[in-house]
Amino acid sequence: MQKSPAPRANWATRFGFILAAAGSAIGLGNIWKFPYIAGQHGGGAFVLVYLACITLVGIPIMMAELAIGRQGQRDAVGSFVALEGPGSPWCLVGWGSVIAAFILLSFYAVVAGWSFDYLLKAASGGLRNRSPGEIEALFDQLVASPGRVIFWQALFLTANVAIVLGGIRTGIERWSKILMPALFALLLLLFIQGMRSDGGGQALAFLFRPDFSRLTPRALLDALGHAFFTLSLGAGVMITYASYLEPEADIRALSLRIAVLDTVVALVAALTIFSVAFSANLEAGAGPGLVFKTLPILLLRLPFGSLLALLFFLLLAFAALSSSISMLEVVVAYLIDEKGWSRRLATILVGFAVFLLGLPSALSFSLWQDVRPFFGHTFFEAFDALVSSWLLPLAGLFVALYVGWFWGSKRPNKTLPGGSLQGGLSAGWQLLLRFVAPAAVILILLNQLGLLPSG
Ligand code: PFF
Repeated sequence: MQKSPAPRANWATRFGFILAAAGSAIGLGNIWKFPYIAGQHGGGAFVLVYLACITLVGIPIMMAELAIGRQGQRDAVGSFVALEGPGSPWCLVGWGSVIAAFILLSFYAVVAGWSFDYLLKAASGGLRNRSPGEIEALFDQLVASPGRVIFWQALFLTANVAIVLGGIRTGIERWSKILMPALFALLLLLFIQGMRSDGGGQALAFLFRPDFSRLTPRALLDALGHAFFTLSLGAGVMITYASYLEPEADIRALSLRIAVLDTVVALVAALTIFSVAFSANLEAGAGPGLVFKTLPILLLRLPFGSLLALLFFLLLAFAALSSSISMLEVVVAYLIDEKGWSRRLATILVGFAVFLLGLPSALSFSLWQDVRPFFGHTFFEAFDALVSSWLLPLAGLFVALYVGWFWGSKRPNKTLPGGSLQGGLSAGWQLLLRFVAPAAVILILLNQLGLLPSG
């Protein structure tokens, strides 16, 4: 295996790393998915379970991924090679992660493309003077237009390629420093507007007053699965990003900061969306169409509605972009570190390959909606299930087992070059990583196999 001759890139500042990693974590998962699943599962009690999953499972696994990358100083596959040697079966975990990132980006770019389309609609006044029924129909029209969906998907991927071409400091870090503060400011503005609407109090009560009677086993598993997705675990992102950190970096403090930022954004986004929904007496359990179908109608009813809708879709586009560049970087870093490719060649080729792989997903709502080769599922549904329900949790499980059991047992004196790993984790975190996180992930997997009673 060839290694790149150039000195390894690194983050300019610790803060830049936090913004980039939080940028990966904060994405469509926070703004599109979390509010609607929290809504479907009845709010407060689900939020508590979700917080428990983030703390007990997500954060320990994030620490483990950061530790692997920080120590390995290579891409997601190469870090395992550096730690365990080239033929080690643990390298398969790295492989699984790179493949997960590649497939995930292919369909993530389709949904992100929809948000670009809405951004243009909002900016050009295309949402104004329309009846609620017309606005709802816009979404179905969009996803049924293959040309438009593919155009936005391609444009979104081009933006990703342009950023990742710039490398770590001048590409990913610089853009994260622009996108993330803008995202926080936009969210804050929308949040204030939402809280001032009539639904503010009701939204607070809905999300923070738990009603345990609404909690089902299904809610628990959804919370666990979403904790993985939202923290970008199992796709090599945290390994790859941490490989650009210096070996002394304090992974415990970094993980906590990333997870807290991600959680705060998810909660604030949900509060904002529910306050708007409740102010129009709408049901909280509106489902996946909540953000694209329902929300524009509601935002447009508020003072400065067109502007708010524009800001909201800008927020969604920024969140998607700061996440997708991390997926692209996982694959690009693999080709640079392991195959000796130039960043330029790797980024452009991977960008194009992801575009091609995404085409069946882009067409899953139009020309190919009846092409269902996977147990009656479209390509989009099948790719999503493969990644979110299988690859991410499986990779996360093995990361937890590796760092919790294997790595520690091979180096019992707990002193690793450049700062300790096991020693850096207090007994509490170690316990979570060794027992609680693997058990929880096995639970998710058993559930996918239909071996658990669902609620
Ligand atoms: N965390 C992102 C979100 O919440 O939208 C999704 C994601 C990004 C998952 C990167 C996995 C990943 F590697």
